[in-house]
Amino acid sequence: MDVPGYALITGAASGIGRACANTFATDGAAGIALLDINHDVLIQVKTEVEKRCTEREGKSCRVEVFTVDVRNEEQVIQAVNGAAQIFGRLDYVVNAAGLAMKHAGGAIYAETSDWQRIIDVNLTGTFFVLKAAAKIMLKQEPILSSIDGRPLQRGSIVNFGSILGAVGVPMSTAYTASKHGVLGLTKTASEDYAKDGLRINAICPGYTETPMTTQSELVLQVMKEKVATSVPMGRMGTAREIADGVVYLSGGRSSFVTGTALFVDGGYTQR
Ligand SMILES: NC(=O)c1ccc[n+]([C@@H]2O[C@H](COP(=O)([O-])OP(=O)(O)OC[C@H]3O[C@@H](n4cnc5c(N)ncnc54)[C@H](O)[C@@H]3O)[C@@H](O)[C@H]2O)c1
Repeated sequence: MDVPGYALITGAASGIGRACANTFATDGAAGIALLDINHDVLIQVKTEVEKRCTEREGKSCRVEVFTVDVRNEEQVIQAVNGAAQIFGRLDYVVNAAGLAMKHAGGAIYAETSDWQRIIDVNLTGTFFVLKAAAKIMLKQEPILSSIDGRPLQRGSIVNFGSILGAVGVPMSTAYTASKHGVLGLTKTASEDYAKDGLRINAICPGYTETPMTTQSELVLQVMKEKVATSVPMGRMGTAREIADGVVYLSGGRSSFVTGTALFVDGGYTQR
């Protein structure tokens, strides 16, 4: 992969965000800012990612931690500006922070407070991070490819959609709406800045083994049943498989890709 620059990742304390941090470290990032609401785990992930950096050959990398609630725009601005100040620039932003929930009985029984929380984290949080990061990226010079030295991009932002950004499933009112919203945000913002060298894409994971899907026996059971009947590859994805898609969309190998949604879902959405 071609990611020699500086990355900022939200939701970095768990699951896919954590796997993204490790993959950026392995694949050559010069610095990685880890953002999450969960401070204690974030500190553990910092140690893990730093170890990953020391294991690779060549340049070292710097890992910074920011405890942030992505629903709070002031906190987001401070963290994004703080990371850019420490690193001198921001090349890749990964919006992985997210929450999922089911509403028993569907839309008419969904609590408005639950709807608001999911929209606030998944959609508005993504908007806050994108807005703060894009302001910085648009002012910087393009990064050079670590492979052939060509000027690649001023910045690349990867937002987290989902297979539920393309289809709907029962009892997933707020989550499905939030992920459709993330794809809309990605498309419009990508067009706003395509000519300025800022690329904005979405990754849409299918059923993936992370704490989001495995922490409750009930959720895991439902996942396994769905996977057996609806995923052509017949298995859940791993966080590392999703991270590989994120690093592709972030780096030089995707230099002509913007405004798209990459489905990493074992074939789920082709049906
Ligand atoms: N796991 C799946 O099957 C799957 C499928 C499709 C999409 N996704 C999406 O991938 C992304 C990562 O999910 P995951 O499976 O790794 O989940 P996860 O629960 O393992 O990790 C999510 C992280 O987001 C953080 N977070 C939650 N609210 C936050 C807030 N307000 N501010 C800052 N951080 C906050 C959590 O602390 C956690 O560390 C999410 O956007 C999710 O919707 C996951």
